[in-house]
Amino acid sequence: MPPRKIIIDTDPGQDDAVAILLALASPEDIEVLGITAVAGNVPLPLTQKNARIVCELAGKPETKVFAGCDAPMKRKLVTAEHVHGKTGLDGPQMADPTMPLQDQHAVDFIIETLRNEPCGTVTLCPIGPLTNIATAFERAPDIVARVQEIVLMGGAYFEVGNITPTAEFNIYVDPDAAKIVFGAGVPLVVMPLDVTHKALTTRNRIDAFRSMHTKVGDMVAAWTDFFERFDMEKYGSEGAPLHDPCTIAYLIEPQLFEGRHINVEIETESELTLGMTVADWWRVTDRPANAMFIKDVDASGFYALLAARLARL
Ligand code: BDR
Ligand code: CA
Repeated sequence: MPPRKIIIDTDPGQDDAVAILLALASPEDIEVLGITAVAGNVPLPLTQKNARIVCELAGKPETKVFAGCDAPMKRKLVTAEHVHGKTGLDGPQMADPTMPLQDQHAVDFIIETLRNEPCGTVTLCPIGPLTNIATAFERAPDIVARVQEIVLMGGAYFEVGNITPTAEFNIYVDPDAAKIVFGAGVPLVVMPLDVTHKALTTRNRIDAFRSMHTKVGDMVAAWTDFFERFDMEKYGSEGAPLHDPCTIAYLIEPQLFEGRHINVEIETESELTLGMTVADWWRVTDRPANAMFIKDVDASGFYALLAARLARL
């Protein structure tokens, strides 16, 4: 099978960075057509810069990085420096990237790519708020039916929320965009907190990165060390979830994951539950299924895949 063509839509973020590295390390499975940055964990000037830092770290400065929307569709931007640090990629200090940012707007790149590539051959991998994707769908409705699949990180059902008691960060930041994407009718795979909270770092798993003795291995270990402190304190867990790489791992080894094809709706009105992913896990409504909602992962297999692929960089 030829590698799957994807666009990674992202707000790096240490876990976004690991997702990008995993994709760039896996050319036999994945062809990264471009990386589109969006405002999320930190504002857009930082997310587009961080995306380029990660491409350079991977030794792939030829990767195309585009800057997209700098604010949610209808609301003020909410950021997560309390998790990811002031730069979004806190941990060891990184030099500014020298590879260029593309001139084209990320939304235009998404539209143009979907129009130019054969219908049904491009997968979108959003791992930040869904602003760029929903804006592209609104601006160019003809592209919606051309998307092969969307594999996104966002939402929660059993774990409920991480930024509010009832909402996960990526969906909460731009619930209006999420509503458009979940309602678009595109085949959708969702990696909610229910699964990412099972993909926890442990000492051994971080040591596996460090013992690669490579720049990438050291950096991923240092990032996860930094990123961990917040979740360990919050949840009292042994490590921290590497949320975003679950999407890329799914594209490479879908058999590591299990879920249900169910209906998922996005709450956009209630003040208390804004951004909630109302997932009909128990199929108690007759609303039509619109998403493969993942709940379980073989965490050892996931970390083995990560270690094997990152060791190549
Ligand atoms: C999501 O929010 C961000 O902070 C992470 O990068 C991930 O995409 C988890 O809720
Ligand atoms: Ca992210």
